Order: sequence, then C-alpha cells, then structure tokens
Amino acid sequence: MKAIKRIGILTSGGDCAGLNAVISSVVKAAAKHHWEVYGIHNGTEGITQTPHSYEVLTVHNFSDTPWPRLSGSYLGSLNKGVKMESLEEMSKKFAVGVKELGLDAVIVVGGDGSMNIVSNYCKGSMVRMIGIPKTIDNDTPITEFSVGFQTAVQVCTEAIDSLELTARSHARALIVEVMGRDAGHLAMHSALAGQADVCLVPEIPYKIEGVINKLKQIKASGRNHAIIVVSESIKAADGNTRSGNKNMVGEAVYGGIGQTLAAEISSRYNEFQIRSNTLGHMQRSGIPAAFDRLLAALYGAKAVELLAEGEDGKMVVWHHGRVEAVPLSDVVRTGTQRLDVINSDYIKAAKEIGMYIGEI
Ligand code: F6P
Repeated sequence: MKAIKRIGILTSGGDCAGLNAVISSVVKAAAKHHWEVYGIHNGTEGITQTPHSYEVLTVHNFSDTPWPRLSGSYLGSLNKGVKMESLEEMSKKFAVGVKELGLDAVIVVGGDGSMNIVSNYCKGSMVRMIGIPKTIDNDTPITEFSVGFQTAVQVCTEAIDSLELTARSHARALIVEVMGRDAGHLAMHSALAGQADVCLVPEIPYKIEGVINKLKQIKASGRNHAIIVVSESIKAADGNTRSGNKNMVGEAVYGGIGQTLAAEISSRYNEFQIRSNTLGHMQRSGIPAAFDRLLAALYGAKAVELLAEGEDGKMVVWHHGRVEAVPLSDVVRTGTQRLDVINSDYIKAAKEIGMYIGEI
C-alpha cells in the first residue's frame, strides 16, 4: 500500500453547524502523521473543475481563528441544486483532478447522497475515501447521529420556546414548520425537547380531525395556547406535499405545508387563532452545539486513523456511544434513514406524554 503524503478534505451537500470543527480535527490529526492537507473548495467542484480550487490547510488555519467554533463551511460546499454532467463524465474529471492534485486519499464530509456520488467517483480513480456523516436531517444511514443535527434541534427548540410565549399572550395555536427532507428526526426531536402538543412527521399518517381533537382537549383543560411542529415534507389533506420549486436536478424543495395546515385547521375549528412559522435555513446555522463539536473531534480523528491503518471505502458512525466504521457500500445500499416507526424510543415517548403524532 502506498504511504500517504497528501490528503484532500471537502464538504458536500447542504451545510450545517460543526463542519469547521470537523475540518479542524482532520487537519490537526493529519499533522501528527506529517500529511499535507488540501482543503478542496466547493465540494467536489474544486477537484473536477479547472483550474482546481483548493488551499493548503495547516493547524494555523484553525488554531488562532474562531473557525472551529463557527457554522457554515470554511471550504464552501456543493449541493444537488447544481446541474452536473453524467456520472461517467464527472468520474473522469474527478480522476484527472485527483491525479493532478496528487491526492492519496479524500475525506468527504457529507450526507447519504454525497457518500453515494463521491464513492462512485473514487472507484474510477486511484484515491482512497473515508466519509464523515453530516446533515441537519440526521438521515445518513447506519449512524445514530450526523454532525449538525443536534445544533438544528437546538435552534428549533429555542424557536418553539420563543413561540410558546407569544402563543400564550395571544391565545393562539402556532405551527412551527421545520426542515428534515423526507425524514422526521428533526421535527420529532425538537417537538419532544420543546414539549410541543402536536408533531407531524412524514413517516406517520395523520388526520386533521386528530389535530383538532388535540386542540379541543387543550382548550377543555383550560390552556389557551398550543404548539404544533410539522415536518416540511408531510402531505396535506389533498394527498400532496408542498414544495415551492424543484432544484436543478429535479428534486422537490419543500416549503409551505405550515400555511396549508393553518388554513385547513382554521376552516373547521376557530377556538384558537392559528398562525404558521417557517424556520427555514436558520436551522442550518447557529452556534454549533457541544455534541456536534464533540462528534466532529471524534469523527475527524477516526477518519485519519482509518486512513493511517490503510483503510478505504468506509464511513465513520456513532453506534451505541462508540465511534465505529462501516463500509460505504452498506451506507449506499441502506439509503436514507427515516424514523423507525415501530422501534423508535422518541415516538414511544411522544405517545406516552400525550403528544398527537398522527394515526399510530
Ligand atoms: O438536507 C438539508 C436541507 O436543509 C433539508 O432539510 C432541506 O429540505 C434542504 O436541505 C433545503 O435545501 P436548499 O438549501 O437547497 O433549499
């Protein structure tokens, strides 16, 4: 096996809090092995486009700066909103770029989509790959936690806390629409943390009557306000999700279900005024939570350790309180990880504390 002299690190897909802490950990761990680290700009674009776009990263980039403590990606990222050429064309460009940059390995910080795409690129080139999971959606397969999720839960929980106060002042039921794509992790975790009254997620069907009955119960108990958390991708009563536009690869960009739901509830029940709030991209930012920074340190160190041991084609995961590595082929095969409706302790807890979470 060829000894490593130079690695690349890139962040791919939608950004989230904790990415810079990951980059910093990788750079520091790589320095112990005397490896050179190229920080690749804008996801794989920094490799596939010419001239290549990257910068040499050293511990100085992160030791005397606030970057490890900040959200966003120092390196920039690339998401699926960018039209790309065929896999074959992109793989060829990636192989050429990797060769020209002299990279022996790449560490890819991304979600399930990025793991799939970049592991395919790597097959056609002589470069080793280790993945580090990140996403506010927490839907990267196999791992219990992806970097960025806990901060997003914190942002949503703080929003719920703030909204509860104004809901109380105006005797309103406030809807909080949160991101998460096709998985309800972000909605369910923040609804539990924020003690919401209703939480609707794409994995569980619901009825408007169910939501209204919960509001009636609250009213009957003497409380004058309520909080309803909804996942951006739940279906409306007409059976369709709400999405504004499609991104450049044809995927739905969700948004607007909160408004639809507010209208549907208000047309049948008017004991509470209903208003909807969409939290939007602020969920991808905020001060990185300590747990995301902790994961960043553990994942970054493990990714470098795996490369030093000669590993290839693995993703680091959090499993039962330990950091482990699983084959990227398993990650790709498993696909998007959604809420486990049967076994989820979160769903069980929500039901036990009387939250309406749909017809289950
Ligand atoms: O995957 C992260 C995420 O923030 C999703 O929760 C959301 O649906 C999507 O990205 C938004 O994408 P964009 O920033 O392209 O609108």
